[in-house]
Amino acid sequence: MPVLDALTEYEQQALDAIQSAADPQQIEAVRVEFLGKKKGRLKELQSVLGKVTAEERPVVGRRFNEIKNRVQSAWEQKRDQLARPATAAAAIDVTLPGVTLPVGSRHPIAQTIDEFKEIMGRLGFSVADGPEIEDERHNFEALNIPLDHPARDPLDNFYLATAGRTSDRPLLLRSQTSTVQIRVMEQTAPPVRIVSLGRVYRPDAIDATHSCMFHQMEGLMVDRGITMADLKTVLRLFATAYFGDDVHVRFRPSFFPFTEPSVEVDMAWGDGWLEIGGAGMVDPNVLRAVGYDPEEVTGFAFGLGVERFAMRRFAISDERGIRHFYDNDVRFLQQF
Ligand code: FA5
Repeated sequence: MPVLDALTEYEQQALDAIQSAADPQQIEAVRVEFLGKKKGRLKELQSVLGKVTAEERPVVGRRFNEIKNRVQSAWEQKRDQLARPATAAAAIDVTLPGVTLPVGSRHPIAQTIDEFKEIMGRLGFSVADGPEIEDERHNFEALNIPLDHPARDPLDNFYLATAGRTSDRPLLLRSQTSTVQIRVMEQTAPPVRIVSLGRVYRPDAIDATHSCMFHQMEGLMVDRGITMADLKTVLRLFATAYFGDDVHVRFRPSFFPFTEPSVEVDMAWGDGWLEIGGAGMVDPNVLRAVGYDPEEVTGFAFGLGVERFAMRRFAISDERGIRHFYDNDVRFLQQF
């Protein structure tokens, strides 16, 4: 029967073509040619089926279906095989080293700030925030820094040129976190026990221990009967909590307009001492400026340089010093 011969020939050619297809495009072309519903060769054979005699039809029909199914499943098998990447074996070579995904970490200064908050939290200090753009009242006046004080010199501060356009009060980037002392006391009646951590800005010459932007932790405690002994205790407890028992801290007489008496706080660093902050008993003029009664309450305040603590903790003592924190060099940052 010529129809059966044609079917056999079709099957042979279809299986050969499937066998030799080498990629997804080729196997798709084989489908179109041999199994395509519109113009495929199977479609042609189907139309011949209609012309066989009634006796031949069951045999030819069965054969047609068998061949169609065999070709179809051979085609599907090959298609699935070609869909897998040729390099599948290499892609799961378990002896190859793994691909390391870069995982970031928090900046060492951010980590230090978190730890400071945690230590001071244990000592009963809550965290307050203040703006980085300040007015002269909060940065100077309420802190007992009069108009003629050298700390207000425009050359020692980042005054904002735009400030005059919106108001006649000059604005500046805060030069110290002591501004937050004023903001907190303006809004809270005593007792007060807060720390405030954040950025401050000064046009200082940049060297290993100075940056024009750095971080401070301000501390303020105001209550009845607070003395210098409380200040020294809190600072020593803080320093030993952060560095361990072997840290040496010393207090040196100094002057700040907003504290009386005032001290500089140093810590032992190599063969010498490094200044880490200023502190003192809150000046009665400051208490008065925020409406507190200096006959009723006393307080202490301190301002510590966060970077200086982090430098000692992480043993950063080379000549780049503090600049490492702001170079954004991943080789440095990924060590933390
Ligand atoms: C102050 O800023 C005072 N507001 C501190 C204070 C607060 C005194 C409350 C009394 C009561 P001083 O200018 O010394 O003080 O700065 C404090 C600390 O900030 C310094 O000891 C130092 O650790 C750090 N610091 C100061 N300037 C820089 C700078 N340019 N770069 C990095 N750290 C600095």
